[in-house]
Amino acid sequence: MKIAILPGDGIGTEIVAEALKALACLDLKFEMEEAKVGGAAYEAHGHPLPEHTLKLAKEADAVLFGAVGDWKYDKLDRPLRPEQAILGLRKNLELFANFRPAICYEELTHASSLKPEIVAGLDILIIRELTGDIYFGQPRGRRSSPDGAFKGADEAFDTMRYSRPEIERIAHVAFQAARKRNKKVLSVDKANVLETFQFWRDVVTEVHAQYPDVELEHMYVDNAAMQLVKQPKRLDVIVTGNMFGDILSDEAAMLTGSIGMLPSASLNAKNQGLYEPSHGSAPDIAGKGIANPLATILSAAMMLRFSLNQEGAAQRIEAAVKAVLAKGLRTADIYSAGTTKVGTKEMGDAVVAHLKAQG
Ligand code: NAI
Ligand code: MG
Repeated sequence: MKIAILPGDGIGTEIVAEALKALACLDLKFEMEEAKVGGAAYEAHGHPLPEHTLKLAKEADAVLFGAVGDWKYDKLDRPLRPEQAILGLRKNLELFANFRPAICYEELTHASSLKPEIVAGLDILIIRELTGDIYFGQPRGRRSSPDGAFKGADEAFDTMRYSRPEIERIAHVAFQAARKRNKKVLSVDKANVLETFQFWRDVVTEVHAQYPDVELEHMYVDNAAMQLVKQPKRLDVIVTGNMFGDILSDEAAMLTGSIGMLPSASLNAKNQGLYEPSHGSAPDIAGKGIANPLATILSAAMMLRFSLNQEGAAQRIEAAVKAVLAKGLRTADIYSAGTTKVGTKEMGDAVVAHLKAQG
């Protein structure tokens, strides 16, 4: 079990350290190697994704990633910005399937911006296609258009496109994930307006024929955005394209209380994966020791489950996270009156203590 450890910038180093502490008490043998990525790699090697970091990630069974980015890099040319590292890793490892579970833990029901009865017990899984759609479609650019509605005016354009294999492989991932849950898939598109997403709907429907035991529903993205806040518990597995998935998964994040609780997995066809919290490097709180490490610890659990075939160990970590929440421990982002406020390290220590007590 070879793991590439890429902590990155800002709170990335603080939260990955806590996940490593949790992994260390599992009585499993890992081969781990750490490398710089993002701003940290730019400072040390002049590039956010140096060759050796990419090579390490490619050769590993899994990548545990912290976060990258800082305001101080905003003036760099785009290819040198820290965020290019994560795009480069997704592209080079062909990590096309992004899993973002949104779970509202019982203890955090009141941290959600929605009424407790709407989110209590929420457990949905958004599966976002990660390597296609308008984010990568060509051509794209700016030009002065002689024949547009405003003759000769400047314009900008991007291209939305999906190929059949791209839609088929993400649809298979969604139906297979649904088989392990409640056998229900909601495919989100904009088939009424966009040809790309009429095609998406057609191909998902075709693939569905191979999964007669799974229920498939289609929904337009605008309605899906409403349903997510109106009655999120009626949803289960949601599969959608890159852009709609980007937006809906952030919306879903807010149902659960804090982005500091949300793990993610990005997988390729070989079940190699990159595991990272859904949040960024949080430069506003970096170095203060107050970041919530649970999203990263839960990402490590997803890594054990999906890439390392260690379901039991994954469940042990998830149980430990639930246990520390039940004990009333809270980092600042999930703190409420009557609970105990702790820092990053204390939260990690509490997870470790629970794992050791269990073990
Ligand atoms: P962010 O997710 O870093 O922070 C948003 C807000 O949430 C901040 O107030 C932050 O303090 C808080 N927050 C985030 N994680 C937290 C945690 N674990 N515990 C407690 N509070 C937490 O997003 P923002 O501010 O938009 O971006 C900051 C930098 O991160 C930018 O450079 C951005 O490009 C980068 N970024 C990197 C990502 C990645 O590495 N995959 C993803 C998103 C943003
Ligand atoms: Mg986003």
